[in-house]
Amino acid sequence: MPVLDAASLREDFPLLSRTFDGKPLIYLDNAATTQKPKQVIDAVSDYYRNHNANVHRGVYGLARESTALYEQSREKVASFITAEPQELVFTRNTTESLNLLASSLGKGLQQGDEIVLSVMEHHSNMIPWRLLESRGVKVKYVPLIDEEKLDLEQLKKSLSSKTRIVSLTHASNVLGTIVDVRAAGEIVHDAGAVFVVDGAQSVPHFSVDVKKLDADFYAFSAHKMLGPSGVGALYGKEELLRELPVYQGGGEMIEKVTLEKMTFQQPPHRFEAGTPNMAGVAGFGAAVDYLRTVGMDAVREHEVALTGYAMEQLDGIGGMKIFGPEKAEDRTGVISFVMEGISPFDIASFAATRGMALRTGHHCAQPLHDVLGVPGTARVSFYLYNTKEEVDLLMRMLEDTALLREK
Ligand SMILES: Cc1ncc(COP(=O)(O)O)c(C=O)c1O
Repeated sequence: MPVLDAASLREDFPLLSRTFDGKPLIYLDNAATTQKPKQVIDAVSDYYRNHNANVHRGVYGLARESTALYEQSREKVASFITAEPQELVFTRNTTESLNLLASSLGKGLQQGDEIVLSVMEHHSNMIPWRLLESRGVKVKYVPLIDEEKLDLEQLKKSLSSKTRIVSLTHASNVLGTIVDVRAAGEIVHDAGAVFVVDGAQSVPHFSVDVKKLDADFYAFSAHKMLGPSGVGALYGKEELLRELPVYQGGGEMIEKVTLEKMTFQQPPHRFEAGTPNMAGVAGFGAAVDYLRTVGMDAVREHEVALTGYAMEQLDGIGGMKIFGPEKAEDRTGVISFVMEGISPFDIASFAATRGMALRTGHHCAQPLHDVLGVPGTARVSFYLYNTKEEVDLLMRMLEDTALLREK
């Protein structure tokens, strides 16, 4: 019995009925961005048709309506990760959430202070911290066990009295590895450091409770979870957000300003300078509604089933190397692989001739690919609307690719 009826869910996604060169689109690049259901597209369009006015500024009916919608979405997105609305800052995406933290937390760092990351971080959770190196901050990296699992013993060893921040991904966009962030957080907090989690590949795929995980900060993007592009979120524990230095200055974030003095709004508005992406936020709320209706446990079960099925068959293709954990239960629906004698680019190009959208390259995780000893990989990544039939077509395509190599 399927836990989720992907075939009927697909009817909500207009783009999934597109064809390329007469072939139905098979969209397997969900780790990069996801397609949008009509409920999200309608919410964005409805915002512009019926509710558009600047938020937090006007007393007239339309402005109050727009503000209410904006704050309702904040409540929805916050409760989706079991947070309070005042703990959730809207940003442009995960990247901006992490830059906000690096910039604001970075203000309190001194020469010789240390930041700890893992070798499997996406560039978004590496470069913002690395930019602090020019101020004498040292960035250290936790290695992996067997090229797939975060080494928690090494995490413990890498922490010292100089460690101020540890920032780790919850799920790798290349390996699919799900990191035990609860255990990592305990280690980090025992060392007295701030614990940041990159949730770009976790919040869309399984249920996340930031309180249970005890993350200090947690970043994610709407576009990877059926929502619009250009909007993301940063969760922060209320007491930490109150202490965090402001990021950008401008309208919305200010409480009072004279030519001599200024005071700032309370969080989260303190971190939302300027007119925000109001339509995007409305769509973000609709995306969360959609995922709640489907149920995150059903999303997870569906992805584990599909990933397990795909991995079983991939194993049967000669010269195939799959990266990341062996068991589907230990990973998200991301499978990166290489095939002997044929480049990832050629695999993705051949796939494209069959209407399949696969990703190829280093997936914004170059240091990880150095660790894996390959310049790039081909990657498929599933979501709630992918089907077993699509996996079968993927396998047929890869078998044909293998034959091409032998010719
Ligand atoms: C693990 C991880 N972190 C961060 C990001 C950056 O997300 P965004 O481009 O939405 O800021 C991505 C995007 O692929 C990701 O996979």
